[in-house]
Amino acid sequence: MNNRFNKIINLCMIVILLLLAIPSRASAVERRPLPKLVNEASINEVIKGMTLDEKVRLVIGIGYPGPNGVAGATYAIPHLGIPSVILSDGPAGIRIGGNFTPDIPIKTSTAFPIPSLLSATWDVNQVKEVAKSFGKEAREYGVDVLLAPGVNIQRDPLGGRNFEYYSEDPFLAGTIATAFIKGVQSMGVGTSLKHFAVNNQETNRTTINVVISERALREIYLPAFEMAVKQAKPWTVMSSYNAVNGSFSTQNKYLLTDILRKEWGFDGVVMSDWWAVKNSFAALAFGNDLIMPGVYKGKLPMPDLIKDVYNNASAPTPDLIKAAIQNGTLSENTIDSCARNILKMIIKTPTFKGEYRNIDYSHKKALTQQTEEEGARINRKVASEGMVLLKNADNTLPFKGLNTIGVAGQNSVVDVTNGKLGIIIGGGGSSQVNVNPKNVVSLIRGLKNANYNVLNSRGKNKMIEGLSTSDAAYLAKRTDIGLVSIGRISTEGIDRLDMNMKSEEVQLIKDLSAAYHAKKKKLVVVLNIGAPIEVASWRDYADAILLAWQPGQEAGNAIADILSGKVNPSGKLPETFPVKYSDVPSYGNFPGDTNTNTVDYAEGIYVGYRYYDTKHIKPAYAFGHGLSYTNFTYDNLKLSSTKMRLNKSKSLTLSVDISNEGKVAGKEIVQLYIHHNNSKFERPYKELKGFEKISLQPGQTKTVTFPISKRSLSIYNEALKTWVSEPGLFKVLVGSSSQDIRQKSELRIVDNK
Ligand code: BGC
Repeated sequence: MNNRFNKIINLCMIVILLLLAIPSRASAVERRPLPKLVNEASINEVIKGMTLDEKVRLVIGIGYPGPNGVAGATYAIPHLGIPSVILSDGPAGIRIGGNFTPDIPIKTSTAFPIPSLLSATWDVNQVKEVAKSFGKEAREYGVDVLLAPGVNIQRDPLGGRNFEYYSEDPFLAGTIATAFIKGVQSMGVGTSLKHFAVNNQETNRTTINVVISERALREIYLPAFEMAVKQAKPWTVMSSYNAVNGSFSTQNKYLLTDILRKEWGFDGVVMSDWWAVKNSFAALAFGNDLIMPGVYKGKLPMPDLIKDVYNNASAPTPDLIKAAIQNGTLSENTIDSCARNILKMIIKTPTFKGEYRNIDYSHKKALTQQTEEEGARINRKVASEGMVLLKNADNTLPFKGLNTIGVAGQNSVVDVTNGKLGIIIGGGGSSQVNVNPKNVVSLIRGLKNANYNVLNSRGKNKMIEGLSTSDAAYLAKRTDIGLVSIGRISTEGIDRLDMNMKSEEVQLIKDLSAAYHAKKKKLVVVLNIGAPIEVASWRDYADAILLAWQPGQEAGNAIADILSGKVNPSGKLPETFPVKYSDVPSYGNFPGDTNTNTVDYAEGIYVGYRYYDTKHIKPAYAFGHGLSYTNFTYDNLKLSSTKMRLNKSKSLTLSVDISNEGKVAGKEIVQLYIHHNNSKFERPYKELKGFEKISLQPGQTKTVTFPISKRSLSIYNEALKTWVSEPGLFKVLVGSSSQDIRQKSELRIVDNK
């Protein structure tokens, strides 16, 4: 009995214990510590710990606008230690709040010069210094990744975003982009190299299909990306809106997987341009890790571009992507690999590292005073370094012994909205920053700051486009020199209609020229533009022409620095100024056939000076042109060897001596071009393969050296699908511009036998 009782008691005990054990085991499963993102080594565990829902959320941004009016942000999964990281434009300064996000208060930052001006400095150290300022300002606003730089080639002078890009030449664009990325990333902030690839127009930009040869792709449109990816390792690359040879860039396996990742070894995040993803499964499967920006949360009406994307059956929503994984359309491995790339990027960010903790960015409206002052100082310095003196007859500039300047033209006063009147500090679209209007220096204010007296027509505060003969005579009589500013705006989203001057503008120049010349005085034209305009019809009437670009908020001070001679101009053209639009290589093939949404890059590898040189078409101002207030001579070109063996990868060295023969200190940009004497293949007459900007005191000589690598002598062979160096005789041409070659030598690539 006792035994039986004991058995029953024991059994009950076991049942009780089991009952107690079941919930405790279940809660043990629930309470198993979740993995946390702490470093790169933790990433695989974190991915294993993520639910499918979390994964599909991570690969889509959290919506536009992002926090505090930035362009976007990634999705946070706090219980796994994954923060949301902040992505913000752009190539001309930090764009945050205001402009495109009317519900969020304006936040101001430095409006730096347009990127075309940065490349016109041809100065990697200068660009790095500016880029560090971008990084610093990004940090002040809690930004993790700057959506810049843009390295698309300026294929046609009418491209609406040319001002945001660096050059018609891939070597210059790639070198400047590399310096920019290194500068920003040295501040602990990431970059996004954009827009990958072949995004060279705004007309139908989200639907246009670029039809392009493999050779043009490899030699012209990809090398700037390739150089920047390999040498500067941007944290992210942004895939572009357009399609390339039939496949949208966001889902272009050839571009994103085969070339970018496999050939070039890119191991960062590919994010899409904003609402560029048409088919999310293809995008994720073919190498686009992050679909930006997610849903539209803006207060402005939803733009058509976004509506189109959301009306699409394969629109990028988490539910759709999840369903695609569940039904096997998309493999979970694909999503894991996208998530892995995103997490690898996140762990590098200041947000992840806790560096932005405890700062309330929503209330921050301006930079600290010190950063603001530093931004202005660097803006002014780089702006004057990138301005290009196109013409300077009889040493009209710098101003000598004169006090009073007669100013005409619409772009001499301040209007930060880039409206009809006013100095134009930058271009429009996602690169436009909010600047504190009190910080914008007009041309007139810049001249006054430099202690000149300024007179407008009849002393009235009226900026005139056209003026009567008596107005012109009045100015010419009462002032020592005349100054006309001519401006052009351009913006993302729209290509320019033409590169013409308005007849009133030409008339204004002619009238002032006649009036000042009658008094034996000079006339200077300042071009406040972002891309080439026509100059041939009026340049003879101007004694000097300064290409000031759109030089950022310090515009007037930087222009005055050049005019007064405080700074000796040293910028050179990163793009050709053609005589007329019908001369341009893409003429007739830009912006393509908008009915079929196709643009044929029929000019192939002959872009910019490569075309004008080869076809003997004289440009108005050549690629690489820019004058100085001093003269430089080139001597003593030497090659370390005049032979290179075909299969040896060693590079040669070229050296050349440059002397400043003038009376003032100055900077020269020494350019190295390569020409193949009798190629079996089509080859542009010459191609830029090296450059260096040097600073010389009067009488000083410096030796500049350039490596000449096998790759720089090679072409892309479409049949062999690789770069090949061709045996034969090459000329090495060293000059002050693409049309002003000062020293030459020869070099032979010989067969191994
Ligand atoms: C532009 C990108 C920009 C993005 C976010 C797009 O319209 O093409 O360059 O980074 O918007 O603002």
